Amino acid sequence: MAERIYDAQFSGNAADNYERYFVPAIGGPLAADLVDAAALKTGERVLDVACGTGVVARLAAERVGETGRIAGSDINRSMLEVARSLPAAGVSIEWHEADAESLPHADESFDAVLCQMGLQFVENKLAALREMRRVLAAGGRAVINVPGPAPAPMAAFADALGRHVGARAAAFIHLVFSLHDPGELRELLAAAGFRDTDVRRETKSLRVPPPEEFMWQYIYSTPMAGALAELDPQRRAALERDVCAKWQDHCDDGALMLSVGMTTAIARK
Ligand SMILES: C[S@@+](CC[C@H](N)C(=O)[O-])C[C@H]1O[C@@H](n2cnc3c(N)ncnc32)[C@H](O)[C@@H]1O
Repeated sequence: MAERIYDAQFSGNAADNYERYFVPAIGGPLAADLVDAAALKTGERVLDVACGTGVVARLAAERVGETGRIAGSDINRSMLEVARSLPAAGVSIEWHEADAESLPHADESFDAVLCQMGLQFVENKLAALREMRRVLAAGGRAVINVPGPAPAPMAAFADALGRHVGARAAAFIHLVFSLHDPGELRELLAAAGFRDTDVRRETKSLRVPPPEEFMWQYIYSTPMAGALAELDPQRRAALERDVCAKWQDHCDDGALMLSVGMTTAIARK
C-alpha cells in the first residue's frame, strides 16, 4: 500500500498558504503582541515593513481608526497580492512593493514603523533600519520583533531538511532564527541613529497543529515549497517520518507546542 503523505492536499502558492496556515498559528498571535507594544493611538500614521500578507498592518488599522494612515511594504509581490485581497477595518491600507533597504516613502511621514519577523531576512539590516528612521517623524518609534534562537523542534526540522532535502532548505530555517541577540539588535539600532532603545526577549508559547499537518503547512507557506514539491515521494515520506518522530516529545494532546524566543525592540527617532 502506498504510504500516506500529508502534503498531497496542499495547493496554491506559498503566499496563500502563509495566510491560511502560518498567520493563524504564528503570525497572528505575535502581531497582537507587537501592535500592543507599539501602543498606537487614533489618527497615527503607521508603516508595516516586510508586511507579508499584512497581518500587522490590518491590526494597526483597527487601532488608528479612520483618521489614521496605514501603509504596508514587502519585497514579495505574491504576499502583497494576498494582502490586497483581504478586508481591513479602520482605514484603507496602501500596499507597496519595496525592499526594506529602500523605502518608497517621504522623510518623516510616519509616527510608527512596525516590522514583524522580517529584519532577519534583509541583507543590509543597517540600511533597512536607517530607512525606517528616515521615514519616521521626530519622536516616532520603530517597533521590531525577531524570533530565535531556534526552538528544539525547529532545530530538529532544520537538521532533517539538511539530510533529506539539502543545505538550502536547512539554511532557510537557520535564517528565520538568525537574528535574536538583544545586544546585536541594540547595536544595529544605535548605528542607524535610534535613541531610547528598549530591547526585550520573551518566550512565546505557541500551540500549532499536529506534527504531520504543521510540518507541511510550514514548508508550503515558505520559499522552501518549490524545492519540496520537486522531491520524490519516498524522500518526502522519509522527511515526514523523521521530523514527526522527533516532534512527538513536544506535543500536548496532539498539538505541537513551540516555545519561541521573541526579541522585541522599541526605539525612538
Ligand atoms: C516571515 S514573513 C513576515 C511577514 C509579516 N510581517 C508577518 O508577520 O506575517 C517575512 C517577510 O519578509 C519579507 N522580506 C524579506 N526580505 C525583505 C526585504 N529585503 N524587504 C522587504 N521585505 C522583505 C518577505 O517577503 C516576507 O513577506
